[in-house]
Amino acid sequence: MTQNRKRVLSGIQPSGNLTIGNYLGAIKQWAENQHRFDAYYCVVDLHAITVEHDPAQLREKTREVAAIYLACGIDPTLSTIFVQSHVKAHSELAWLLTCQTPLGWLYRMTQFKDKSAKQEAMSVSTGLLSYPVLMAADILLYQAEVVPVGDDQRQHLEFTRDLAQRMNHLYGEDTFTIPEVMIPPAGARIMGLDNPTAKMSKSEAAQLHAVYILDEPDTIRKKIMKSVTDSGKEIQFSDDPSRAGVNNLLTIYQAFTSQSAEAIEAHFSTARGYGDLKKAVAEAVIESLQPIQQRYRELTEDVRNIDDLLAQGAEKARAIANRTLAIVQERMGFLSA
Ligand code: TRP
Repeated sequence: MTQNRKRVLSGIQPSGNLTIGNYLGAIKQWAENQHRFDAYYCVVDLHAITVEHDPAQLREKTREVAAIYLACGIDPTLSTIFVQSHVKAHSELAWLLTCQTPLGWLYRMTQFKDKSAKQEAMSVSTGLLSYPVLMAADILLYQAEVVPVGDDQRQHLEFTRDLAQRMNHLYGEDTFTIPEVMIPPAGARIMGLDNPTAKMSKSEAAQLHAVYILDEPDTIRKKIMKSVTDSGKEIQFSDDPSRAGVNNLLTIYQAFTSQSAEAIEAHFSTARGYGDLKKAVAEAVIESLQPIQQRYRELTEDVRNIDDLLAQGAEKARAIANRTLAIVQERMGFLSA
């Protein structure tokens, strides 16, 4: 059994508070799929320094993201959880790949264009430009066959595939596995509470934008009660952009309660207005997050628990990553040490 499980790799940046969007769109599915896959889940700390960062915060968030993976049910006996920077091969392979990456491939990445548009052109870090190369290294080092990511990462996956093909052409077709992207189902895509036409993001500063996985019940109630809806009163799923707020609340409700759309619409057909919907959504979110938050508190009572697990994860990851790196180094002509 174990031998036939497909290799999977994914990661989240420790660059803010993880949201219910990260949970429903990524971590929950990773946990559900872990029996099917030989999975590697990393905390991509090297990616988090491509924009301005605070060292103390990076350290704290790196542990926090790892503890959230565990609290959400990623089982370290089934999946490997590790911190990207603990496996030095990521940085090393990224350099080797950088030297095979045409600049044009990087300039056309929409994430680079979006993020760099917010800064002065010449002061944007080179790391922000080469971000996709590091991401390709993360994936290719493990010969991952499947990469579960949000729709916004599709272009980075295409880039990874192109780069892997280029390397295979130059250094042998069996150098890298060409990875497939795995996009979560539509019901797992959660939008911002303050702006339901944009994806919920952990790096958005606005107070009422996102519910964080570790938010207190009262904070969750407040954020959801203040979420943007419309002036109607119909509580139905809809892909009409003007009804995106209500649709998002229903999507959140459905994801947390696992009921059918019909059952949910029937349930709310007698509601007096959006206030009733919001109350019900808030309680469903609070109730679902409660066991995760409880487990998070237990796990983090002693940070050594997390650090020990991460050390074990890094050791397992290193064994695989170093093997791939050695093959690439040899094929590119480096003298072995
Ligand atoms: N760029 C990804 C994101 O922002 C994070 C990431 C980095 C990643 N390395 C990865 C995702 C490797 C999947 C595989 O969501």
